Amino acid sequence: MAAMTSSSTRVIPTTGAIPRHVAIIMDGNGRWARQRLLPRIAGHRRGSETVRKLVQQATQLGVEYLTLFAFSSENWRRPPEEVGMLMQLFVTNLENEIQRMHAAKIRLRIIGDQAPLGLRLQTLIADAHQLTQNNTGLTLTVAVNYGGRWDILQAVNRLLREHPEKQHSTIQELDLQSYLSMGEAPEPDLFIRTGGEQRISNFLLWQLAYTELYFTDTLWPDFDAKSFQQAIESYQKRERRFGRTGDQC
Ligand code: IPE
Ligand code: IPE
Ligand code: MG
Repeated sequence: MAAMTSSSTRVIPTTGAIPRHVAIIMDGNGRWARQRLLPRIAGHRRGSETVRKLVQQATQLGVEYLTLFAFSSENWRRPPEEVGMLMQLFVTNLENEIQRMHAAKIRLRIIGDQAPLGLRLQTLIADAHQLTQNNTGLTLTVAVNYGGRWDILQAVNRLLREHPEKQHSTIQELDLQSYLSMGEAPEPDLFIRTGGEQRISNFLLWQLAYTELYFTDTLWPDFDAKSFQQAIESYQKRERRFGRTGDQC
């Protein structure tokens, strides 16, 4: 388990290395479906296939943490039918995949505000966490009803609840670290967004501070092994400086 002292903002990873932590906004399912005159949910279903393949590839490449944005706190603004179908798809995928993931030694984490998710999903998530918590392979984190602002606020509020004495002192970055949703993981090295938009959409706001950003027009259902390889190759060419000069690195 990575200690937080190995956070990317403290230790500079070697140029050319495989990113330890990859975070992805999986965007473009709806447009993929529309191009084929299919309902949007067909794009989401096809997107789940991409996830399955990508998890395998990430494991083979030696990526330690893969974090996927599946449903944002703003996605509730979509038509209720689409929201309902996305939740159902999430339940089905979790039910169908959890044993296979466990066998592959994947440690599954779901982050986000679970309160509005419904009892069935909450129970499935709790069971999945319990089943896979001691696994030593890839840590797969799926963000569901997640928002970066929510994450920072819930961390501050929890910290203050558990340490009322801090109300009158100055909170430091490290105080907050363990209360953030990804507190125990190193910060993402590589961020990928598919689907052509170049924005963060309230994903990991705190954690992406020094992450390398990669945007591609490829729609999520079309994002294949070659696309992932290209993103990693782009990352491997970059010199990360974290505020230092190029000569220091
Ligand atoms: C991403 O694909 C999946 C979710 C946000 C749930 P979209 O559904 O946003 O696809 P586009 O952007 O409409 O193509
Ligand atoms: C971001 O995609 C959220 C997920 C992929 C889950 P959206 O398609 O919802 O993003 P915006 O709203 O267009 O920025
Ligand atoms: Mg979208």
